[in-house]
Parts: sequence; structure tokens; C-alpha cells
Amino acid sequence: MTSSPASTGSQLASRFGLSDRVFVGPAARRLARTLEDGLEQVESTIAAELGSANPLVDAAARYLYEAGGKRVRPMLVMLTAQLGDGITPAVRDVAVALELMHLGSLYHDDVMDGADKRRGVPSVHRVWNNSTAILIGDLLLSRASRVMGRHGADGVDMQTATFERLVMGQLHETVGAGPDDDPIEFYLQVLADKTGSLIAAAAQSGAYFAGAGEELREPLRIYGEKVGVAFQLADDVLDLSASPEDTGKVPGTDLRAGVVTMPYLLLQASDAADDLDLLTRIDQGVARIAAGEDPSILDGPIAELRDHAVTARTHELALSWTNDAVDALSALPHGTVRDALTRFARQLADRSS
Ligand code: IPE
Ligand code: IPE
Ligand code: MG
Ligand code: MG
Repeated sequence: MTSSPASTGSQLASRFGLSDRVFVGPAARRLARTLEDGLEQVESTIAAELGSANPLVDAAARYLYEAGGKRVRPMLVMLTAQLGDGITPAVRDVAVALELMHLGSLYHDDVMDGADKRRGVPSVHRVWNNSTAILIGDLLLSRASRVMGRHGADGVDMQTATFERLVMGQLHETVGAGPDDDPIEFYLQVLADKTGSLIAAAAQSGAYFAGAGEELREPLRIYGEKVGVAFQLADDVLDLSASPEDTGKVPGTDLRAGVVTMPYLLLQASDAADDLDLLTRIDQGVARIAAGEDPSILDGPIAELRDHAVTARTHELALSWTNDAVDALSALPHGTVRDALTRFARQLADRSS
């Protein structure tokens, strides 16, 4: 899927089937059209921000943006802005800056996770190399700061606090739980930090920069953070998906690289002999892959884990975090925006890409 500005409006409807499942009824469909128009502006601003006079930099910076992506964070910014003055220039820029921050973090994440594919195409470090992926990621983060900097200290404070939390989440994931940490609690905190932080920033900043009531900010922040945890738990299930054509990623990327996920942690917490056996085979496979063997040696255990009760439990956990996110919306006025946020959260936890 490509995301040229000209084709974006019609693509919004197909991203998650948004118009069918998030925007139900005439008022909601009007809202969907407003968001489609806003997304077109966001897309052309992102495209302009990615430009560089250097052809290599230009190509590498546009590469993942043009490969696809759901634009979850700009959608949330524009949706919560409807609680105030709508998609003002400041709201549009915040949506752009948060998507650029997300995009930059993906360039870095794929190096850290040794991921071969992203958004259905070979990852940046596979097409170029690690240094290029890291430096272009840095460039995108600096472009995000430039856009946010146009909107005063509040924008910059929100961006730096969000990015620091995202980095701490990635760092804690890298370092791993300590002997005194509960592994599952530690992991949920990592998810809230690495993913919840940015989604929470998107949910609250749309309302904030559109001048909506200050009392909406905290409920929207809580909503976004919980949606982020649910979203990432759904990602753990997707990592095991047998449908790489939907996910755009190689099945079992995290598991093969020894990146901890919720199904793995639940397996570790089990005392059933079969579970221990599967865990041992996974650990041994990860060690052999790290020593240079072909990653396909884990295909069998990955298929077993995909159909295992711990993966179904991870999906249930994603739905339970979604319910908590929806509960946080009780402080919002009833209406199309609240309904759309509710459906949006449920859709994200049940996503297939
Ligand atoms: C991927 O985020 C990284 C996570 C935080 C799980 P998305 O699933 O929003 O990625 P794109 O933007 O649609 O590619
Ligand atoms: C990505 O998390 C989170 C950030 C980029 C901050 P993951 O590594 O779990 O996500 P995917 O599976 O690569 O998209
Ligand atoms: Mg990753
Ligand atoms: Mg990662």
C-alpha cells in the first residue's frame, strides 16, 4: 500500500475498515469525512517534511512512509480535536509531529529487533545498513521537533516528555526485568512506556491544541495509554500470525530474536510439563539462531505457540485493557466523538495488521 497524498482520502476508509466499523450513522460519517480531509493535509505536510536535497537521504527518509502504515496517532489527534475547535493548523502540526516521531522510532526499532520486514517491505537497515537506519531515524525525530517547535513550549514539553518515556520503555525492554521485578508487571510497564506514551500524547494533545475543556485532558491521556497497552498486546498476538500478508512482518520476528512477549511470559509462568517443554524448545532455538543457525528452526514451536492457550489469553488481556480504556471515556460528553473513540479502541485491539 502506498500513501501518496492524492490517494489518502479514499484509503482512510479502508484502514481498519474505519468507515464501516468506527463511523456508524450519518453524523459519524460526516465526522469521517472531516477526518479524511484532515488526514490529506497531514499526509501532504509529512511528505513535505521528509524532503531532502540529498537523494540518498530523501529516498531513505520517504521509504517507510511511502510503504504504508495505519496513521493511528494522527487519527487520534484529529478525532479528539473534534471536542474543541477541530483540525486547526496547530492540531494538524501536532498530528504530523507525532507521526514523524513514531516513524523515526520504527527505523530504530527494526535495527534493535533485527526485523527483516516492516509495512510489507524489507526494513530500512536491510535495504541500506544499520548506520543509515539509525541516522535517518534521528533525522525524522529532529524534523518532528521542528514541527512541534512551531507551537510553543507546551508542544515541545509534551514531545520531549513523550519521547523520553518511549525511550525508557525501549531501554527497559532491552535491559529486561531484574530479580525483584514481577516479569509480567514489568512487561506491562514497558508496553505503557514504549507504546502507551505516544498514543496517550496523541489522544490528549488533539483536545488540548484544539482548546477543548482542560478537564478532558487527563481522561484522554488515560484512555490513550490503556489503548496503547492493548494495541501492543494485540501486536504480540500478531507477531505469531500466520498471515504475513496482513501484518507486513515476518511471523515470529520478536520470538526468534529473543524479544520477550506476553505469550512467552505466560508460558514461563505456567507449571504444566508440556508448557515447560515448549518453553525449553523456544529458548534453545533462540540460542541456536543467535549462534548463526537458520531462523526457520523455530517455525514449529512458533506454530504451536500461535495455537496455544497463552496466546488466546494474551488476546483476552488486550480486550480487557481496551475495556479499561473505554471506561476512561466516561468523563467525555456522549456523542459521535466518544462513540468513535470507543469503536476505535475496540478495533485496534482486534486488528489484523
Ligand atoms: C507499530 O505501530 C509499532 C508499535 C508500537 C506496535 P503501528 O502498528 O501503529 O505501525 P504502523 O504505523 O501502522 O506501521
Ligand atoms: C515498537 O515495539 C515500539 C516502538 C517503536 C517504540 P515492537 O518492536 O514491539 O513493535 P513491532 O512489532 O516491531 O511493530
Ligand atoms: Mg519491533
Ligand atoms: Mg521493539
